[in-house]
Amino acid sequence: MEDFMNYVADANRYGKAEYRRCGRSGLKLPLVSLGLWHNFGSVDVFENAKKMACFAFDHGITHFDLANNYGPIPGSAEKCFGRILKESLGAYRDELIVSSKAGYVMWDGPYGGLGSKKHMVASLDQSLQRIGGDYLDIFYSHRPDPDTPIEETVDALEYAVRSGKALYVGISNYSAEQTVAAAEELAQRGIRCLIHQTRYNMLDRRPEPDLFETLDRIGMGAICFSPLAQGILSDRYLEGVPSDSRAIRGHFLTEDKVRERQDLAKKLAKIAKGRGQTLAQMALAWVLQRETVCSALVGASSTTQIAENLEALENTEFSSEELQQIDALTVLEN
Ligand SMILES: NC(=O)c1ccc[n+]([C@@H]2O[C@H](COP(=O)([O-])OP(=O)(O)OC[C@H]3O[C@@H](n4cnc5c(N)ncnc54)[C@H](OP(=O)(O)O)[C@@H]3O)[C@@H](O)[C@H]2O)c1
Repeated sequence: MEDFMNYVADANRYGKAEYRRCGRSGLKLPLVSLGLWHNFGSVDVFENAKKMACFAFDHGITHFDLANNYGPIPGSAEKCFGRILKESLGAYRDELIVSSKAGYVMWDGPYGGLGSKKHMVASLDQSLQRIGGDYLDIFYSHRPDPDTPIEETVDALEYAVRSGKALYVGISNYSAEQTVAAAEELAQRGIRCLIHQTRYNMLDRRPEPDLFETLDRIGMGAICFSPLAQGILSDRYLEGVPSDSRAIRGHFLTEDKVRERQDLAKKLAKIAKGRGQTLAQMALAWVLQRETVCSALVGASSTTQIAENLEALENTEFSSEELQQIDALTVLEN
């Protein structure tokens, strides 16, 4: 019998938390979800990772997002979360929505990535082994595969649901057209395509015209990743590039990219200040204005950041003047 190392979740965890229905499904997700792409790998400090996950859950964040390749090293974020479940959060497994994905390259050879049934099913089994337990709440096709017929990728998603290894399925990084193809193919098999995980933030507004309209029409929800543009839309880089930041430690955000956007971030931070928010809080409130978006999927390196981000929910209304100011600064960015 596991003792979950005496972790007891905060009794008031649902007191202030808010949830939004994912498309026309029965599943609700927290307005802010936590992603484990960075800071949960084997190169990171486990105690900090565990502290963040427990802090998040203590504040009503019920959704934790993974992928087969998160780390570094690839796979280690799933192992880390598996350990967190074992040591603490596992006692609350029925209160959690745990997602993972397959599609980016994970192992050598022709079946190590993309959308074949061979890759997707093997990857799902590996993810379950690393995380532990019998099922994921959401299993995603992480990216479209132009060389695999959508019917085959959908075969894998259908298998995930029928085998009980996933309760729901979703897609990520699919265009509007690819989304319709996947959702229709799943619907023909009696399975809902629950959710689309897409990048969306004030600096990347590409989903606005087509994708969001398509999701509304077919009743799918959107969860937005990198709502802070990996930290550019926060106070993290307003005065420079700290040595412990992602721009220095990681490979996906460069110092050049941060510096390129610094002036713009400062202008947006002024608007945020006028609203009584930090830039990160305004950036989260901004993605959540859109009803299609059921959750803003943030990353974090500390509990302080998570706490600051959750405070965004105290003001999610924008005046038309504020929206116009933001549009004037950001619409041309696309
Ligand atoms: N489906 C896909 O293809 C895909 C792609 C990317 C991400 N995702 C998912 O989306 C999740 C979130 O992505 P992301 O990590 O890029 O999101 P993000 O929220 O845009 O960026 C997170 C980073 O911003 C900084 N940050 C967060 N809150 C802050 C605050 N209050 N003040 C100052 N800095 C703050 C931290 O950087 P420091 O680490 O420097 O402190 C943190 O690591 C991922 O974990 C993953 O689950 C999915």
